[in-house]
Amino acid sequence: MSIRPQSPAPATPAPGKLPVTELTEMKARRQPIVMVTAYDAPGGRLADAAGADLVLVGDSAAMTVLGHDSTVPATMEEMLILTRAVTRGARRPLVIADMPFGSFQVSDEEALHNAIRFVKEAGADAVKLEGAGPTLTRVAAIVGAGIPVMGHIGLTPQSATMLGGFKAQGRTAEKALQLLADARALEAAGCFSVVLEAVPAPVARRVSEGLSIPTIGIGAGGATDAQVLVINDLLGINATVPRFARKYADLRSVMTDAVTAFVVDVQGGAFPDEEHSYS
Ligand code: KIV
Repeated sequence: MSIRPQSPAPATPAPGKLPVTELTEMKARRQPIVMVTAYDAPGGRLADAAGADLVLVGDSAAMTVLGHDSTVPATMEEMLILTRAVTRGARRPLVIADMPFGSFQVSDEEALHNAIRFVKEAGADAVKLEGAGPTLTRVAAIVGAGIPVMGHIGLTPQSATMLGGFKAQGRTAEKALQLLADARALEAAGCFSVVLEAVPAPVARRVSEGLSIPTIGIGAGGATDAQVLVINDLLGINATVPRFARKYADLRSVMTDAVTAFVVDVQGGAFPDEEHSYS
């Protein structure tokens, strides 16, 4: 008789799931770690089949999926629905739910309550929180409850207004040192990894060397322990792609051509034909 439940309870690592502890070992043996965002079950399945180690249900969904101009409007309920879909699709990769703006800023208790919702209601393996400073006690509270936490510093889109817009961070010696101090504080608070977004490559290298947990770079050069891209950018679904992202496909034109062909076929009476009809 199997000692494992057929359908693992939330927070129970499913058979074949990459252990969180393996990530630090991957860093130690300099094995690159790969993270990609996903917002639905097909995206989770695709990331798993492609061999990604981590799948982030990013609050970038507010922009890529929900059509907002920033990540700020993403709500807990929306992020729970998207995370639930992704965890149904991704088996081996760890699924990390991005805690949306407003879900962790008010208090440690509220942050923990919302992190628990991601694990219990959506099957997330971990959560991600933006920032250091006041975020540190939130991290400690969530890790203290047994939920792995990914940090996120550098350009933190939820506070882009305070940072003066969507621009690279840590570009002076003083700010670079602050980034290193923040990253170390997040590691000390219990984070299992830290995203470095839009940080000069030499600064990201120094931060990565200064931590034993993996750094995950986006627009942070090649010396971080992991790389992450937003799936819409790498698949070429959005009209524009940030300078630091590589477009590996042009799905926007493939999809537009396909839908246009359907429209033309219906308008011209070519679809449906006999092959696609019941006799
Ligand atoms: O929301 C997101 O997709 C992110 C990544 C860019 C790291 O935070």
